[in-house]
Amino acid sequence: MLPTKLKEEATQRRKRACEGSLACSTCHVIVMDMEYYNKLEDPTDEENDMLDLAYGLTETSRLGCQVIARPELDGLRLALPAATRNFAVDGYKPKPH
Ligand code: FES
Repeated sequence: MLPTKLKEEATQRRKRACEGSLACSTCHVIVMDMEYYNKLEDPTDEENDMLDLAYGLTETSRLGCQVIARPELDGLRLALPAATRNFAVDGYKPKPH
């Protein structure tokens, strides 16, 4: 079990600041196995634009909010980058477009 402080920080860092609207990169994840990465839908241009802003980008990076869980992805292993860029903190609420 994670110590509370670390757990809070981990939750804060993975807050999905834009709630999946492709306006941040706080949901950046790294797919650990190329086999599984190749099973994912290709990222859109908008996702790639946000990934370009992600800290610690790798060739198997994705935005977690854009990955749709499907049965064939059972066993998918993800890593979280060491850091993230989150410009929206402390009570920020995304505005509807
Ligand atoms: S939560 Fe902002 S792009 Fe995924």
